[in-house]
Amino acid sequence: MSLVDDIRAQAGEAPVRAALILGSGLGHLADTVDGVSIPYDQLAGFPHAGVSGHAPKLVIGDLEGVHVAVLGGRAHYYEAGNPNAMRLPLETVAALGAEQLILTNAAGSFRSETPPGDLMLIEDHLNYSGLNPLIGEATDRRFVNMTDAYDPAIRTKLTKAANSEGIDLLSGVYAWYSGPSFETPAEIRALKILGADAVGMSTVPEVILGRFLGLRCAAISTITNMAAGMSDEAISHEHTKAMAPLGAAKLERVLRRYLKDLA
Ligand code: HPA
Repeated sequence: MSLVDDIRAQAGEAPVRAALILGSGLGHLADTVDGVSIPYDQLAGFPHAGVSGHAPKLVIGDLEGVHVAVLGGRAHYYEAGNPNAMRLPLETVAALGAEQLILTNAAGSFRSETPPGDLMLIEDHLNYSGLNPLIGEATDRRFVNMTDAYDPAIRTKLTKAANSEGIDLLSGVYAWYSGPSFETPAEIRALKILGADAVGMSTVPEVILGRFLGLRCAAISTITNMAAGMSDEAISHEHTKAMAPLGAAKLERVLRRYLKDLA
C-alpha cells in the first residue's frame, strides 16, 4: 500500500483543501483538529523532526469547517543538512488534495513596527542560505517561477481575517538563514540592507517545494525577538520558545478566522 493510500485508509477519502505547517508555539492547534492523528514515525520516509517545541505528527480532519492536513512539526535544514527534508510531507499533502499551503514560523524582527509578540505576513523572501531543495531534481519542473510565491489573494484574505480579529498584520520580507546558530549582528545589518524585515531558519525551502508542487502558499511569522544586535535582550532558543506563545495566540485567531471564511 502506498503511503497516501495508507493515510486515506486511516483518515478517509475526503480530499483536504488546505495544508498547514505549524511552527514554534502553534503545535497545539493540531490537537484541536477533529480528525485522525498519525505520528511522523509511523509514516515511512517522513523526517525525524526533532526540535523541541515542535510536535511531529500529521493530522487530517476538520478545522473551522475546512478539511485540512496539518503538519505539526517540520524538519529544518540545520537538523541534518538536507534542504529537501520536507519534500515527502509536502508531496503527501498535495497528493491528499491540498490546493494551498499555509506556513507558520518564529522569526527575529528588524523593525520596531513588528516587535516581539507581533505577527508578520510574509510577502516575499530572501534565500540568504543559497541552498535549494530542488538541486538534484532532474526534470524541467525544477525551474520554478518564484514571482508571487506568497499568493497575493491568500495574503489579502489573511489580512482581512486579521483585521476582523482586530490584530495588526504588517507585511514584510523574510530572510532564510540556515541556522542552527543565530545570526551575527553584522549579518543582520547586511540582511537589512538587502531588504529583509525578519529572519528565520525555516519556511523558504518549504515554499520553494510548495510552488514546485503547484500549491498556493502563504506564511505568517510570529516575532519572538528583535534580531541580533537590535536589542539588549539575549537571543536563545529558550527565549524563542518562551516568546512564541505570545504571537501564537494571535496567529491561531487569524488562522481560525481565515479558515472559517474559506469554509
Ligand atoms: N534568527 C533566526 N531564527 C529565529 C530568530 C532569529 O532571531 N528568532 C526566531 N527564530
